[in-house]
Amino acid sequence: MREIIEELERRRRAAREGGGQRRVEAQHAKGKLTARERIDVLLDEDSFEEWDVFVEHRCADFEMPGKTVPGDGVVTGHGTINGRTIFVFSQDFTVFGGSLSEAHAGKICKILDHAMRVGAPVIGLNDSGGARIQEGIDSLAGYAEVFQRNVLASGVIPQISMIMGPCAGGAVYSPAITDFVFMVRDSSYMYVTGPEVVKTVTHETVSHEELGGATTHSSKSGVADRAFENDIDAILSVRRFVGFLPSSNVDELPQWDITDHVDREDESLNSLIPDNPNKPYDMHELIEKIVDNGDFFELKPDYAGNILTGFGRMGGSPVGIVANQPMILAGCLDIQSSTKAARFIRFCDAFSIPIVTLVDVPGFLPGTAQEYGGIIRHGAKLLYAYAECTVPKVTVITRKAYGGAYDVMASKHLRGDVNFAWPTAEIAVMGPKGAVEIIFRQDIGDAEKIEKRTEEYRQKFANPFVAGHRGFIDDVILPSETRKRVCRSLKMLKNKHLQNPWRKHGNIPL
Ligand code: HXC
Repeated sequence: MREIIEELERRRRAAREGGGQRRVEAQHAKGKLTARERIDVLLDEDSFEEWDVFVEHRCADFEMPGKTVPGDGVVTGHGTINGRTIFVFSQDFTVFGGSLSEAHAGKICKILDHAMRVGAPVIGLNDSGGARIQEGIDSLAGYAEVFQRNVLASGVIPQISMIMGPCAGGAVYSPAITDFVFMVRDSSYMYVTGPEVVKTVTHETVSHEELGGATTHSSKSGVADRAFENDIDAILSVRRFVGFLPSSNVDELPQWDITDHVDREDESLNSLIPDNPNKPYDMHELIEKIVDNGDFFELKPDYAGNILTGFGRMGGSPVGIVANQPMILAGCLDIQSSTKAARFIRFCDAFSIPIVTLVDVPGFLPGTAQEYGGIIRHGAKLLYAYAECTVPKVTVITRKAYGGAYDVMASKHLRGDVNFAWPTAEIAVMGPKGAVEIIFRQDIGDAEKIEKRTEEYRQKFANPFVAGHRGFIDDVILPSETRKRVCRSLKMLKNKHLQNPWRKHGNIPL
């Protein structure tokens, strides 16, 4: 028996050693942790249950039979984060560059299947040279098996991709299908075709970092939801992040102890809105003052900053927050902000996370760049997402809510459940100046007349009461009591039940 146990230990040790000391040192020299070190940081201590440690590739070509490493370049299994079950795969760059073989893909598929069966999130730690070149089509088949499962798991369990090394070619499409992509600065990159191919085809000279680094994807392309400084920062942040998510689409939302009174008022909010309607203010301040303990996990903070998206808690329960940001482009809706918010809203809806919308929007951004880029189609995504979603929706209009953008931003007409406005709200077809210049075009040369008409329009329409008369606004509230009123509304909506008509699926304008 002793020999049998020793043999087991020898095999396990071989798996733990991965590609060997030299390659582990090379990994560390790049500032990266190994696949197992990452799992140690990610999961609660001693909670990891590893599967398929003895799986090896069966490739018979290119001298591969003599080269096997138990586990075949990916560590898989399940464990817990703050006591909640999580499935994980972590690609081991020290073994064949973390490249994906048929066996490697099979291990990922196995945990995806189980995660769906038991209803638990999957976190993928990606660090791979792509398809295992020696395996050819078997590797491609493996990728497709993973993609298929990613798609079927979408909206069933949360899927999070951490990009912690190379992720190139078709391999990018598994993370792209998952719900959230987090990258590590300076050590990770994602692209469909690398700098050499780009140079050959388009004659552009571009570095790995410029083409597909964390900064590029978190600020230019919008592929990444966040960029972190290093592996530890990224992994600890994702531990915090999953605390906002339910384990599956049929699971309850995680409830946290209420350490911040739901009735807490904040007098400073009464002076958040500047006297000058054209002066911006930072919407982050409102968000941080109304969520529990000011804890807001922002997504895509450096992309389409004219809309803010992210998770907070109110009364101990997670909420998704969507807010116009007057500091950037005056909070206008454009192509990027519309798609950013639409995707976030659809995630919240799929996982029954209530949505709190904070509105200060002068309209859609004008211009040929927007029209040629398809703002009609992209703006429609946001409208579609809000109109389709059935989760509790609480809306607060702080200042401007003009034109079509008023309708879009979780208005009463798109089944907003509770719609509040601050006394500073201006709910109208457009701003007073623009309106007067159209209605009284004949008076444009007469500054005094125009000024008088503008003031008249402002008095008549630039307030929350016209909408209030019609019941489009449920109440006009003091800014200081926003948290209290939103928390009470969310509590009232806890058992909300609303179903859309049966259909195979809708046809969101992609
Ligand atoms: C097999 C691979 C590999 C791969 C790397 N290795 N990529 N083995 N298949 N795809 C091995 C290397 O041979 C080396 O083995 C070890 O991993 C580390 O690689 P290095 O090149 O030394 O590392 P580094 O300098 O950091 O460069 C990393 C890299 C580079 C940029 C990822 O290795 C590279 O360009 N690899 C090829 C990438 C590629 O073309 N993949 C296929 C893409 S097509 P030793 O034994 O020396 O340690 C694709 C299609 C997917 O992925 C389609 C899905 C639909």
